[in-house]
Amino acid sequence: MADQIHAIAQFNAQSEAETGNIARTLALCLHAGDVVALDGTLGAGKTAFARALINALPGEPEDVPSPTFTLVQTYERGPLEIWHFDLYRLDAPEDAYELGIDDAFADALSIIEWPENLGSLLPPAHLRITLQQAAGDDSRKIAFEGNDDWMARLSNFSDKASHHG
Ligand SMILES: Nc1ncnc2c1ncn2[C@@H]1O[C@H](COP(=O)(O)OP(=O)(O)OP(=O)(O)O)[C@@H](O)[C@H]1O
Ligand SMILES: [Mg+2]
Repeated sequence: MADQIHAIAQFNAQSEAETGNIARTLALCLHAGDVVALDGTLGAGKTAFARALINALPGEPEDVPSPTFTLVQTYERGPLEIWHFDLYRLDAPEDAYELGIDDAFADALSIIEWPENLGSLLPPAHLRITLQQAAGDDSRKIAFEGNDDWMARLSNFSDKASHHG
């Protein structure tokens, strides 16, 4: 039976730096096999979120370009392999196999922009993060949704995120 999906946390980030704080706090909770789906329209801040998340994991600060044309970029941070996907230009869900998405799901942390383009190939147990433009240019509503497991794993997340730098 399909897991129930819960609203886990909601934030109002007033700047890209605040979005980064939320992403950095989340980074501490993630491990191999996790799938983070970043939802939101063009320019919502999906790549900005991914960039802060990736750089929060152990290692030197590095460039995290948008994988708009490559569709995927991989990173090694500490013990963790990260695959950052931008599937905007994916023609059909099955084309993601050629990108190695199965390997990513099995062994890595997967961060996926435009996850709707994966259709039913998106693992049901993903954490969904929706970024939405709010009043003011730099203001974003950020919502986390996920199954029972994510709900349990992120039960204190709102507290942690609001006490973070
Ligand atoms: N609170 C905020 N959080 C995130 N980004 C913000 C915020 N305020 C302003 N921005 C700006 O919004 C833009 C977000 O661009 P970004 O490339 O991250 O969007 P995206 O959702 O990945 O778009 P695309 O669908 O084209 O990949 C950046 O220029 C960033 O500086
Ligand atoms: Mg992007």
